[in-house]
Amino acid sequence: MDQTSSWSPEIDPALGAVVLTGDQIATRVTELGAQITHDYGGQAPLLVCVLKGAFMFAADLARAIDLPVEVDFMAVSSYGSATKTSGVVRIVKDLDADLTDRHVVIVEDIIDSGLTLSYLRKNLASRNPASLEVCALLVREGSTERPELRYTGFTIPDDFVLGYGLDINERYRNLNELRVYCDPGAGGSSSSRR
Ligand code: IMP
Ligand code: MG
Repeated sequence: MDQTSSWSPEIDPALGAVVLTGDQIATRVTELGAQITHDYGGQAPLLVCVLKGAFMFAADLARAIDLPVEVDFMAVSSYGSATKTSGVVRIVKDLDADLTDRHVVIVEDIIDSGLTLSYLRKNLASRNPASLEVCALLVREGSTERPELRYTGFTIPDDFVLGYGLDINERYRNLNELRVYCDPGAGGSSSSRR
């Protein structure tokens, strides 16, 4: 049995259908870890966790990789509304690590428009890493800009989602599963974002 949260749409109208169970996520993260272990054979990559959304994914992914990885953190903020990116990205917290000659893997929660990742990729590529790849847990169907993605967890439908690190106004990051967000202000049960 999968461990689902005790919060439910009945208790909180913002929480909609389960998109991915905790078990489904765990299985995929294990596969991604094995793939990275295989691909980097012997070389220890530096995982760059993009805060805050990727914190849970990065923690699980790091443990699924059987190599002496290093983990560093970066925080970016993209101006926009709570559920939409504007494309203007600002570095809020930069890395501690020097990327020169390192094998870097950017760990992202979700590729939506792809603008955040495009910016990050360019920015980190300019720091002379030996290699630079991206591992994204989620890619939203129909994302307009698809920066090169070496590793992808799941492609999900065009709904705003919560849980497993992803938030709405800083809440629901601690859900074990991924759920659709139902905008209480939108009226009805639709959660479509566009
Ligand atoms: P992009 O620049 O449009 O690709 O936006 C990516 C960022 O927006 C992600 O790293 C998330 O922090 C946030 N984001 C996009 N879609 C969702 C969602 O469905 N739930 C929570 N955060 C999201
Ligand atoms: Mg976010």
